[in-house]
Amino acid sequence: MNLGNVVVLTGAGISAESGLRTFRDNDGLWEEHRVEEVATPYAWARDPGLVWRFYQERRRQLGSVVPNPAHYALVDLARISEGFTLVTQNVDDLHERAGSKGAIHMHGQLRMLRCEGSGISEERMGADDLTDGFAECRCCEVGSRMRPDIVWFYEQPMHMEEIYRAIGECSVFIVVGSSGHVYPAADLVTIARRRGARTVLVNLEEPMNVGEFDEVHLGPAGDVLPGLVLDWSRHGDQK
Ligand code: APR
Repeated sequence: MNLGNVVVLTGAGISAESGLRTFRDNDGLWEEHRVEEVATPYAWARDPGLVWRFYQERRRQLGSVVPNPAHYALVDLARISEGFTLVTQNVDDLHERAGSKGAIHMHGQLRMLRCEGSGISEERMGADDLTDGFAECRCCEVGSRMRPDIVWFYEQPMHMEEIYRAIGECSVFIVVGSSGHVYPAADLVTIARRRGARTVLVNLEEPMNVGEFDEVHLGPAGDVLPGLVLDWSRHGDQK
């Protein structure tokens, strides 16, 4: 496969082998918390304490997980691609900790908090930022409450212009660990295909949009992806 401009979209499945639960597998995260309870602006308005504790638990968990071979394989893939754009639906920092640069977090990031007064986001992962008490901003005269810098349901994903531009120029579009449930992320493969990109899937099982992929590799990403990247590095110049 000719590795020209590559765009990779990752989902919760790439972090599963690091111990972060996915959203829709049978032991998925949502089974403990109904979506409406924690991941919407209305939940934040109705019960900010519950939403805050849910995200603080996930932010604290970042300290106890590490990247897995799939994250590192994408660092290698970037090295053998002419152009490389990593887009992730994940809000964890495992791509960065594996060495990926410039990952585009379309659903936000757990490491960041956003001031409700100014809308300014900043990284806040100090010990006193991880308690169950609300965090206060450092940007307003009188400290405002901070919210998770996460894109909740009914909110607009981030960086979409940059994502669509990268897809418009890519020759290979790879999805790793996503169920294809949530839009607009689930649509990106269709857009890439329409523009003539080769579409590749690495996933534990067939997702909703499996028909959009030219190549389907089923299995745990930590097992499958490193071998695929090695093959591509050896035969990258072949069609
Ligand atoms: N390797 C590869 N794929 C895996 C693995 C693994 N080890 N474990 C699970 N998967 C696959 C599952 O089969 C599933 O298809 O990863 C996918 C995870 O799907 P979801 O849990 O729906 O996660 P995701 O697609 O990232 O969800 C998208 O939904 O709730 C919102 O904002 C949230 O970003 C999230 C978005």
